[in-house]
Amino acid sequence: MPPPDSLSPESALRLRSGHEIPLLGLGTWMLTTHTTEAVQHALELGYRLVDTSADYMTQPGIGRAVRRRPGARESLFVTMKVEENEDGHAATIKNLEELKLAYADLVLIHRAPEKGVGEKVWRGLMRARDEGLTRDIGVCSYKIPQIMELAEATGEMPAVHQIEWSPFGHSLDMLNFCDANGIVLQAYSPLTRGKRLADERLAAIARKYGKTQAQVIIRWNLQHGVACIPKAYREDHQRENIDVFDFTLDAIDMAALDGMNEHFSALEKLEYL
Ligand SMILES: NC(=O)c1ccc[n+]([C@@H]2O[C@H](COP(=O)([O-])OP(=O)(O)OC[C@H]3O[C@@H](n4cnc5c(N)ncnc54)[C@H](OP(=O)(O)O)[C@@H]3O)[C@@H](O)[C@H]2O)c1
Repeated sequence: MPPPDSLSPESALRLRSGHEIPLLGLGTWMLTTHTTEAVQHALELGYRLVDTSADYMTQPGIGRAVRRRPGARESLFVTMKVEENEDGHAATIKNLEELKLAYADLVLIHRAPEKGVGEKVWRGLMRARDEGLTRDIGVCSYKIPQIMELAEATGEMPAVHQIEWSPFGHSLDMLNFCDANGIVLQAYSPLTRGKRLADERLAAIARKYGKTQAQVIIRWNLQHGVACIPKAYREDHQRENIDVFDFTLDAIDMAALDGMNEHFSALEKLEYL
């Protein structure tokens, strides 16, 4: 992880496979209007990672936007997901067909199953990875014991753990666990779906740096070495969210943001706790 003041839009984290995952990406849940154009705009601004899932209904539009950048596939990173009750290998093929892409960079199990830890779907993803359908595989919203059980059963740790993560709802224990096990943590719903952006303590920090609350949250993630995928349809939001490389949060403000944790979830609950 480069020191905070040298972070740039090109900053990436190295995965166990040796491939790199960009620190900042574009989420696409609910980005169903003009998906291709919106993703194209983000790519033009310098985003290099796009996060999707079949149930977001954004795969065809994302695939079009990626394919319209000739020669750029290698420099872009596409994350997709399979459901916990699907055949991991078959679902990866189905999603790639919808994206009309030859490979994904990362395929995630969308959530932990109600029973077990998803060993079968994980083995399907391992096979997809071994066949070159995806470069890396990971999970979403798993508890630490579930990750341990999955790794013990299959001999393979996830490369990435994607979880709901914001100053208002996070777990430094999970971050430490992921760091210790070579797992990249990636934050979903980092902007709390807008629900906590008006927090006055956050606004005060934003004013101090002449930035917005969203930019402070994104920067807090990046300085923690947490990858981050804010969703933005609006062009001004897309521009704002990538304009986070001209300031550095000092240690006091990082600690203040850490201290805002109340295990808040913009969805229902932090599934990984
Ligand atoms: N693995 C999982 O189970 C899981 C679960 C949830 C989400 N995700 C992924 O994580 C991504 C991000 O999470 P999310 O979509 O739930 O929520 P989010 O990124 O926290 O918030 C998105 C909302 O914030 C708005 N916004 C974006 N930039 C802003 C800015 N600078 N100022 C003010 N508002 C701003 C967006 O508006 P506009 O769109 O109108 O610009 C949108 O309404 C998803 O899109 C998805 O790719 C994964």
